[in-house]
Amino acid sequence: MRTHYCGTIGTAQIGERVELCGWVHRRRDHGGVIFLDVRDRTGIVQVVYDPDTEASFAAADRVRNEYVLRMTGRVRARPDGTVNPDMTTGAIELLGETLEILNAAQTPPFQLDEYSDAGEDVRLKYRYLDLRRPEMQGRLRLRARITSVVRRYLEEQGFWDIETPTLTKATPEGARDYLVPSRTHPGQFFALPQSPQLFKQLLMVAGFDRYYQIARCYRDEDLRHDRQPEFTQIDIEASFVEAADIQALTEGMLRALFREVLDVELPAFPVLTYAEAMRRFGSDKPDLRNPLELVDVADLLRDVEFKVFNGPANDPDGRVVALRAPGGGSLSRKVIDDYTGFVARFGARGLAYIKVNDRTAGLEGLQSPIVKFLPEAAVHAILERAGARDGDVVFFGADRSQVVADAMGALRNELARDLGLLRAGWAPCWVVEWPLFERGRDGKLGPAHHPFTRPTCSAAELLADPVGAHAAAYDVVLNGYELGGGSLRIHDQAVQNAVFEVLGLGQEASVKFGFLLDALQYGAPPHGGIALGLDRLVMLMSGAHAIRDVIAFPKTQTASCPLTQAPSAVDEHQLRELHIRVRKSD
Ligand code: AMO
Ligand code: AMP
Repeated sequence: MRTHYCGTIGTAQIGERVELCGWVHRRRDHGGVIFLDVRDRTGIVQVVYDPDTEASFAAADRVRNEYVLRMTGRVRARPDGTVNPDMTTGAIELLGETLEILNAAQTPPFQLDEYSDAGEDVRLKYRYLDLRRPEMQGRLRLRARITSVVRRYLEEQGFWDIETPTLTKATPEGARDYLVPSRTHPGQFFALPQSPQLFKQLLMVAGFDRYYQIARCYRDEDLRHDRQPEFTQIDIEASFVEAADIQALTEGMLRALFREVLDVELPAFPVLTYAEAMRRFGSDKPDLRNPLELVDVADLLRDVEFKVFNGPANDPDGRVVALRAPGGGSLSRKVIDDYTGFVARFGARGLAYIKVNDRTAGLEGLQSPIVKFLPEAAVHAILERAGARDGDVVFFGADRSQVVADAMGALRNELARDLGLLRAGWAPCWVVEWPLFERGRDGKLGPAHHPFTRPTCSAAELLADPVGAHAAAYDVVLNGYELGGGSLRIHDQAVQNAVFEVLGLGQEASVKFGFLLDALQYGAPPHGGIALGLDRLVMLMSGAHAIRDVIAFPKTQTASCPLTQAPSAVDEHQLRELHIRVRKSD
């Protein structure tokens, strides 16, 4: 139906007669001449109809935004002074000859041709219109290029794409499962996989050696801008590998991707231990574009009388840190109060600070609600260690270590953004040496990653000191986002049993994961892998603010779809077939 795509026409086609199809992006009537901006997935081109071509001019007069057209015209250079450098086709236009209206369109519920402030619900309800916007088309185009490069890279490295089931049994990745009732097995349910974890390990037992899959995963968890209930992983597993092999492969893949898709050479990936990341940045996914660091000062505050500080300073589970904000001395009282409110969200009970006006003036040169409670020598030592200069403010967090890390780690990010301190570009890193277990709110030990992660110690050492055990696990972090996580796996049944024992899973484990334990008895090779969040990767690479913006048909914050109105009630007959009775909510 056409000879060219709209966005591909340029000065090379001047003088040619072309045939196009597309949507009316905008229509302007300039006193006797009608300009149509016509759009397809490649871009927009301007078509001009003048009254000389009578029938076409009359049709052009009738069309409205989003009408679907087919047209012919001759390409010509735009007259001087009308060239639009913001458009890829801005140097040319089409002098329209014929015009066929292939389909009319209702007035769209929101404007597509300029910045749309339509609410998310409306945009998602009419997602097919929202997706027509060049911005959205660009993001999904980028996504397709990314998966294509990833596939090519992994294929070249000898990885085979193998599909794993989505009607399956629960995989423990720490979220709630989405369940699917079985009609043929009354009262029984499939779970949608939270990841292909168990199957990819079985594929290693089966001898496939190198597997990958661009796999859909399902997790019923609280949603945020970087989480969806249904999302996609670049899932990788390999046999006879060390952690360094998986890390090198991942780095190579990300480098190739950034080079080919964005023409960006990624910098080196520094390796941080989990402990170091928590100590310096208060986060297990530090944004290394941010130059600010937490500085421990508990040792300087053990003997002070100020309870806010000496409590945590003397508590083995406590921590006191200073966070210097360069140039923050000019922050108003109101702004500091806002930061105090901000850290309170993470459980901090206050936000002590010292504004440094003039360090040569001793205590007189400082402005602070707390220096009056502290000996001058301690204040001096703290400011020295924090590297405070005149014009800075130093904030303090004193509490349980976890609260300090959460609150001051988040404040570190907030301050860098507000003070414009974030470096431009890309800052990847690895976080390694994770604890194998973490204590939940209920005090019980849970897997820090998943229960198939290999400890760096023996089964006996693990049972003797589970809390001190480390995991052979690694996370890849980019600009403060956890992009991916992986580990070496347990291939030895005794070690796997020891982990289940620590988790108190004994009998339950053999019911839930008996098939994996069985498989480990039949010659499981040492193996390991990683999974990268594809949506997060595309979000970062496209500069979008939320993963919703890089998914064609995402769910809302409350895990629903305004377009299809899913989830929805089903009729009684269907429920009966599934042996399900819905409980009235009370
Ligand atoms: P993990 O649970 O760390 O590891 O997940 C790997 C990566 O998947 C992405 N991700 C998500 N993206 C969007 N929405 C979500 N709800 C969501 N949850 C996770 C993140 C994360 O880093 N089986 C292991 C991997 C392995 O050990 O090989 C796993 O799933 O980017
Ligand atoms: P208070 O003694 O509670 O009035 O606190 C004195 C100062 O210490 C105030 O500036 C508080 O914001 C700050 N503060 C209180 N608790 C903490 C804490 N846990 N960490 C850091 N600063 C705190």
